[in-house]
Amino acid sequence: MPSQRHYSRLDRFLCEIDSLLGLCVKTAPTTQRPNPAADISEDPLSDAEKKLSAALMRVNHAGEVAAQGLYLGQSLSAKTSATRQQMRTAAAEEGDHLNWCQQRLHELDSRTSHLNPLWHIGSIIIGAVAGQTGDRWSYGFVEETEQQVMQHLQGHLDELPAQDRKSRAILLQMKQDEGEHAAAAHAAGAADLPTPVKKLMRLSAKLMTVSARYI
Ligand SMILES: [Fe+2]
Ligand SMILES: [Fe+2]
Repeated sequence: MPSQRHYSRLDRFLCEIDSLLGLCVKTAPTTQRPNPAADISEDPLSDAEKKLSAALMRVNHAGEVAAQGLYLGQSLSAKTSATRQQMRTAAAEEGDHLNWCQQRLHELDSRTSHLNPLWHIGSIIIGAVAGQTGDRWSYGFVEETEQQVMQHLQGHLDELPAQDRKSRAILLQMKQDEGEHAAAAHAAGAADLPTPVKKLMRLSAKLMTVSARYI
């Protein structure tokens, strides 16, 4: 007889959020750019290499889920339509990243992080608060976030198995885009965030990157 799983209220709540997130991911705005890995052939990877690549791409997918939340929150609380538009434009490129990471995870026979709903909701709130403090601070938050993401991506490029040219092509394009988001935020008048805020951002990013590897 099949065992019946008992779903707690929390389970049901997370399922609801998860399906909502699934919808968000499917309907995330994109620029429809082709996947940078599309024309790159798949080199054979050992089981251990495949597992490592999947862990890294799962972290990056979680990061892009968070990016969707942050830009959504920041566009909702932006003070001017120009800022709102800039946040939306960046969000569409993050939507490309999200899809590319998801596709790569699928090719690596792996899955996305179970904690994504948490990062998504948390990021919407953080983004909305950042936007509420004013556009210069909001741009400052974007610039700092994107700079931290670029450093993180370089770490993954160094760690990625050498033969995994498909994941590498995706991460390289992402790193370039994140650099452009940082530069655009800087040009728009980004304020320099206080050091404790930067440290807190690093700490919360660490929490996400470590947990998404395994969960
Ligand atoms: Fe991104
Ligand atoms: Fe970005």
